[in-house]
Amino acid sequence: MIDTPISTRNKTNNSLGNLKEYKTSEGLLECVLDNAFVNISVYSDSVIKTHISFDGHWDHNPYSVIQSPLNRELTISDENGCIELHTSKIVLTINKSPFRLTFKTSDGKVINEDDQAFGTASIGEQITTYKKLQNGERFIGLGEKTGPLDRRGSGYQHWNTDHFGYGPESDPLYCSTPFYIGLHNGLSYGVYLDNSHKSHFNFGASNDRFSSFSVDSGDMCYYFIYNDNVQGILKSYSELTGFMPLPPIWSIGYQQCRYSYYPDKQVSRLAETFRDKEIPADVIVLDIHYMEKYKIFTWDGEKFPNPKALVGHLKSLGFHVVVMCDPGIKIEEGYEAYQSGIENDVFIKYPDGSNYSGSVWPGLCHFPDFTKDKTRHWWGEQLKSYTEIGVDGFWNDMNEIATWGQMLPELIEFDFQGDKATARKGRNIYGFQMSRATYEGTKNNLNGLRPFNLTRAGFSGIQRYAAVWTGDNVANDEHMLVGVRLVNSMGLAGIAFAGYDVGGFVGNANEALFARWVQIGAFSPFFRGHSMINSRDSEPWSYGEQVEEISKNYITLRYKLMPYLYSSFYEATQTGLPVSRSLAIDYTFDNKVYDHEYQNQYLFGQSILVAPVESNKHLTKVYLPEGEWYDFLTDKKHQGNSEIIAECGIENLPVYVRASAIIPVTPQAKTNTQNLGNVLELHIYKGSENNSFVYYEDDGESFAHEAGSYYKRVIKYVADKNQVIISEVDGAYDSKIKNLHICFHGFKGINECTINKSGVNAEHHSYRFTNPISNFDPIDSEVCDGLKIEQIATIKTKNLGSEIVISW
Ligand code: NOJ
Repeated sequence: MIDTPISTRNKTNNSLGNLKEYKTSEGLLECVLDNAFVNISVYSDSVIKTHISFDGHWDHNPYSVIQSPLNRELTISDENGCIELHTSKIVLTINKSPFRLTFKTSDGKVINEDDQAFGTASIGEQITTYKKLQNGERFIGLGEKTGPLDRRGSGYQHWNTDHFGYGPESDPLYCSTPFYIGLHNGLSYGVYLDNSHKSHFNFGASNDRFSSFSVDSGDMCYYFIYNDNVQGILKSYSELTGFMPLPPIWSIGYQQCRYSYYPDKQVSRLAETFRDKEIPADVIVLDIHYMEKYKIFTWDGEKFPNPKALVGHLKSLGFHVVVMCDPGIKIEEGYEAYQSGIENDVFIKYPDGSNYSGSVWPGLCHFPDFTKDKTRHWWGEQLKSYTEIGVDGFWNDMNEIATWGQMLPELIEFDFQGDKATARKGRNIYGFQMSRATYEGTKNNLNGLRPFNLTRAGFSGIQRYAAVWTGDNVANDEHMLVGVRLVNSMGLAGIAFAGYDVGGFVGNANEALFARWVQIGAFSPFFRGHSMINSRDSEPWSYGEQVEEISKNYITLRYKLMPYLYSSFYEATQTGLPVSRSLAIDYTFDNKVYDHEYQNQYLFGQSILVAPVESNKHLTKVYLPEGEWYDFLTDKKHQGNSEIIAECGIENLPVYVRASAIIPVTPQAKTNTQNLGNVLELHIYKGSENNSFVYYEDDGESFAHEAGSYYKRVIKYVADKNQVIISEVDGAYDSKIKNLHICFHGFKGINECTINKSGVNAEHHSYRFTNPISNFDPIDSEVCDGLKIEQIATIKTKNLGSEIVISW
């Protein structure tokens, strides 16, 4: 039994009181207050941690933050009743009586300040920090949260919840990342609340005075992040909680799933149909019916008599296999996983030491305690039965923990790295640590190959171990757009690899809805079709010929964009910038991007603006932010800072490209990511600004890149010189690209194009540009208003490791 001291705090408000004394040591400012203890430490010039404990017991979350505080001496002063702590970016003013915090820029602008009357206070066990609402303050992010892009006026909870068929306003959902970004007066800051108990965020909901964040128990521990822009804040957050690892390239191809495909013959037929119809795809996902009576680590002997042969066959067709992994282990004598789980004592427990049991798919189950090292290791060993037969993708489901009744008893106990915690603290962490066990275990089992790992539940830091999908969505237009916002919002909370069930999980899509969903999904970081048991067939060919063609076009487009997309994922691993970027990241103080009409728009990677729209609309309004934009399909140029009417018949999703964009495309993509061809097209869109793009390539499947086996080139567009400069190669990987085509958009009458002035084997062709979406008609030059690609330069890239300068 965990020995938790019963709180002696009053049920009404308890303030922290005044600062009585303080001392500094090794980068730490330790304060003793009338009613609490506060430790303040600096993690970087942009990040300051405040940890407030009423009882001095210092409650920790050992899983999310992987950065260490700086050990340098703190720069502080003590004058006029205030302590000031300085970094090069932030000035933290600590008012002593009463204890209140104000974060300012180094030139004295208030970024964020405690509500002067309330500061941080507790009501019983719950602790809340109250922040003064600043003029015009907006709030974005907070991860997998429904509701608008600007969260001002709304409130949310973090409590991982299995919410089947959730509504467009439902909260909480499956995954918790208590990190938000505040914006006002040209300033942006982030707050990460590092406490896994149930937490509450109020962004001026039902009050016009404060925003606040609360934890139901434990300490108030939060990291305040300030940087010049949202990009910088996202980077700091990722430094704190970790960057995502590079995914295997096949996992960012198209994945086909349903609950469930069986028997094995149907699965093979499914895979063969993709190949027969030449619809690119990389993954077949097996949901729970592959198992014998839903028991994890088993196969249904009738439906899947020879799983190894099936996996082998799918591999021979160029598919990877992802299998469902539920945490519940059926209580059944003789079932190997159960026996071994009991022998190794890996399950979560009631306080009397007996294993907790709850019912889920297989019936009554025990649940591995993933907060224990030994259990995570045990789980990894169990997963060998999959990796040994060639499975390299894993889908962690039902890990909130979902049990029938949806009322996980709060008294059950987790090991929590030996620190023991009840479900009140452990629940939000469970899916995160299950994903860790799956990722670390399968990484170990796969001998140098990257596993793909997907999860439904998670907590801050989950990006280190898994992609996240938005659970049981519903087949309707509103949900399709909610999914886009959820993914964009997760991108604002460190989770770059996220997606939704394309076509909708619950209910039946119609033709138009499915077509639209595939179009939008083609521009989602994680791209998977999935639907529920007893719903209609929902493969790209299940909705008639027209929808099949549209689906094929957009899935193929996704593959053509693979060099751009894989490079964007690489960028996420380095910077924490998401692949699907709410316009609030690049156009933070443009009010229009928060407009309800435009809040779903996002940048896919650096330069492609996607305007998701309902399936029944044929015309829609699109907001193009400052700059110039090209229609992706027609190359028609639009001035930014404008609202335009876009046609969006069922064949077309409104998509635009930012002027000065550099987009690497592989024109030969047809089957899967193993087969992307050896030609790279670099699409350059005329603009007045310089731009650069980091092109990244590696073998797409191993960890050899960590030892330098990658191929990286910085591609620069120098606008006023009409030049593209491709830097010399960085890395030891032998690129698959043998021919480079430079495709010009928006440049009129290029007569000549020179490459490094001389010595390079370059061929010039006049070139009729075909629309990047396969099977669409070539662009008619009249439609393009003379803006079509006029020339293409072909460069043989062999031996061209040094800098390439292309001028025209
Ligand atoms: C719940 C998941 O959210 C869903 O995607 C899956 O199909 C079912 N569990 C069955 O495994």
